[in-house]
Amino acid sequence: MSWSAETIKRAHDIVARYPEPRSAVMPLLYLAMRQDGYLTADGMKQVADLVGITPAQVQSVATFYVMFKTEPKGKYLISMCTSISCYLMGADDVLHAIEEASGVPAGEADDEIGVEHAECIGACGGAPACLVNYELIEGLTVEKAKELVRWLRDGKPETINGDELQTLFGSVTSFDWAIKEDNAAIGPYPAFPVFGTAAQNTDALEPGRGA
Ligand code: FES
Repeated sequence: MSWSAETIKRAHDIVARYPEPRSAVMPLLYLAMRQDGYLTADGMKQVADLVGITPAQVQSVATFYVMFKTEPKGKYLISMCTSISCYLMGADDVLHAIEEASGVPAGEADDEIGVEHAECIGACGGAPACLVNYELIEGLTVEKAKELVRWLRDGKPETINGDELQTLFGSVTSFDWAIKEDNAAIGPYPAFPVFGTAAQNTDALEPGRGA
């Protein structure tokens, strides 16, 4: 078992929120990704044991959704949207700049940085757009993409925050998020918070994420 006592306690807290333990599979998978950086066989077995289903059933969920990762993706995963709106606004050039600056081809990862194509991430009005550890940047340019890679490599931020990313590397935006996420960092590896994306929803289970 690789999970810390704290993580196991948090896992039990999550399961207790659901009338059926198996309903907790997806938030527990988020937790497993936060624990190990990706979904290991041990992590998926932990989830299976916690909710009383088989590891194969957990794996079937984990491999259905692209944002669950069953292989290491580095500490920082850059997911570049290459669907139609972003493609028309130069996403291929931005992706090539990311690959060249990082030395990591799309679909691969080194210890620090992973790069991947993503299907539409719902920010077409701010195309071309990408995610870093599932935090959004809209209006990315070739030059800003290179700066982003240098910032990740040299700065090695412990957390990734969408507002900060947008300020440093973005331009045109399509969203007004309404709720400011001062502490919406998700990291230090690609993983969602256990519940929601708004900091106030996660204070109880995400130490250090409070507003
Ligand atoms: S096509 Fe890129 S965000 Fe929709």
